[in-house]
Amino acid sequence: MNLHLATSRMLALVLSGTLLLAGCSEGESPSDSTNSSAPSAKAQRIAAMKQVTDQHSFARPEEARITHLNWKAKVDFDARTISGTATYDIEVAADAERIVFDTHELAIAAVTVDGAPVEFALGAAQPFLGQPLSVPIAPGSKQVAIQYTSDPGADALLWVEAQGEKSPFLFTQSQAILARTWMPVQDSPGIRFSYDAEVEVPQGLMALMSAENPTEMSSDGRYAFRMAQPIPAYLLALAVGEVEFRSVGDRCAVYAVPELIEDAAYEFAEMEQLLLAAEELYGRYAWDRYDLLILPAAFPFGGMENPRLTFATPTIIAGDRSLVALVAHELAHSWSGNLVTNATWDDFWLNEGFTVYFEQRIMEAVYGRETSEMLATLSYQGLVDEVDAISDLNPDDTHLKLHLAGRNPDDGMTAIAYDKGYFFLRLMEETVGRERFDDWLKGYFEAYAFKGMDTERFVEYLDRTLLSDPDEKTAVGLENWIYGPGLPDNCPKVASPRIERVDTTLASWESGRLATADLPWNDWIYQERYRFLSNIADDTPAARMAELDAAWGIGSTGNNEVLFAWMEQAIRSGYTPTYPRVEQFLVEVGRRKFLTPLYRAMKETDNLDMARDIYRKARPGYHAVATGTMDELLDWK
Ligand code: BES
Ligand code: ZN
Repeated sequence: MNLHLATSRMLALVLSGTLLLAGCSEGESPSDSTNSSAPSAKAQRIAAMKQVTDQHSFARPEEARITHLNWKAKVDFDARTISGTATYDIEVAADAERIVFDTHELAIAAVTVDGAPVEFALGAAQPFLGQPLSVPIAPGSKQVAIQYTSDPGADALLWVEAQGEKSPFLFTQSQAILARTWMPVQDSPGIRFSYDAEVEVPQGLMALMSAENPTEMSSDGRYAFRMAQPIPAYLLALAVGEVEFRSVGDRCAVYAVPELIEDAAYEFAEMEQLLLAAEELYGRYAWDRYDLLILPAAFPFGGMENPRLTFATPTIIAGDRSLVALVAHELAHSWSGNLVTNATWDDFWLNEGFTVYFEQRIMEAVYGRETSEMLATLSYQGLVDEVDAISDLNPDDTHLKLHLAGRNPDDGMTAIAYDKGYFFLRLMEETVGRERFDDWLKGYFEAYAFKGMDTERFVEYLDRTLLSDPDEKTAVGLENWIYGPGLPDNCPKVASPRIERVDTTLASWESGRLATADLPWNDWIYQERYRFLSNIADDTPAARMAELDAAWGIGSTGNNEVLFAWMEQAIRSGYTPTYPRVEQFLVEVGRRKFLTPLYRAMKETDNLDMARDIYRKARPGYHAVATGTMDELLDWK
């Protein structure tokens, strides 16, 4: 079985090579073939592109691919399972013998093809990837139905138990390759399908998906969904909980549990403005509605761009709308990522780098350049730190184009894709001018809407459309940015006078020239406070933290970004009065971006025992995405 699979996989590669060759030659510029003797680096990459395959999926779309999903499922909180039937419409090549799905710890009960039971085969399980489910078909086959049950430990799912007054909650996180832990599917970002669904959940809970959603609780726990636009599997999403709907604009609303709905509606009242600004920049919004779901604090990310319904952490509710950049980011994905989608996880920067750029432009349009430049300055600092850290471990991981075969694609989720990607696009904007750049970017989203994009094809498109002038091309040095390490010398400079003033103020405070009571803390907005706290010297004594706490009550701030920066420094300074807050925070919040630095700070200050004690209590409440990282960091067995 495995040998057979391997042979046909090679055949499929050859086949896909031919198809892609035909597909891309049309776009090749004449200059591509000038250097005829030795194959240039570029020619080699074009050759590689002819075999572009997603190394993180068993699917072989050139042979048979899904085009539509009809999902009927039941959510069982007691058993912690989702069981049901996924029925796919399929498109089949003339010589196809099978269709291959991705599964990960799914119990497959039965498979039918056009209504008739067939003998399916599950291949050997591989780390991260799970098992291929191979279903025999004929060239005329139209529909495959898979009846299955998910595992109670499924990595995509987090089952949050009922607590006191609080109802239970379930949410999924499918990106990057976790959709296959709750749905047998061709789990590759280059494969798209529309879907409809009927889902049954316990009465008193609402079900929501990355689709047309209900706005009210149903009386019988049954809900119907429809996603008419084709999406890749990593954008499949489901949440079940006692949530309410509150409209905040013509096309925008928030969903949250009753305790948070009021605060959420206030915090995100400007969503529609962000949406209008985004459309003004890069074209019509393609998904009809844009709503936001506030998840339990255990959500491992800040936000996830599930189409029509962004999933978000409650830690962005600050009370003063200061953290809405995250919503701008997830909204921007409605173009970069959800419309034009990275073809493989090696091309992740095409999703995230473009999205950070677009996010910045939305922030600039709505809140002004000063605010967006402050954010860019913070990104720049984060990027420089991360480039340093990654260069020591694995310099190849600082290239925009990654090589994640055999690894968890999650490894690619670093500041490189996000912020190196952002600065690369900003460099192009500054090189060709904003007007030309904006026209180009809008055209790019239009040309590749609902399609996959890989780095090589992107470079080819860029050469042909934006950087055809050799001088501009040289000025950008895109080969160096995309295929080279670190941060190139021509990285754009960001200037934020307000952030620079914070740096001078910090220096005066650290040298003792400026008294703690004279800090302009109350005049500072979140970005300034964050900059100050995150740049305090690691060896600052606890007594100085005590002064800050006494003067400004920083330990009880409602802004989680500021609180996080405070707690990290408190750990590094050994300022023990903050430790109970750290523990409470870590037990309550599961957002990995906060967990990793906090646990790491404990580890690096010889507080590994404290870290493990807290982790023991907190771990059962975390999502698999977070425990995966923390288990390794804390050497947890
Ligand atoms: N799509 C990502 C989240 C993601 C990436 C999940 C890779 C799984 C694998 C999302 O858009 C994102 O980038 N979220 C950020 C927030 C953003 C403002 C940088 C986060 O969660 O921190
Ligand atoms: Zn993102």
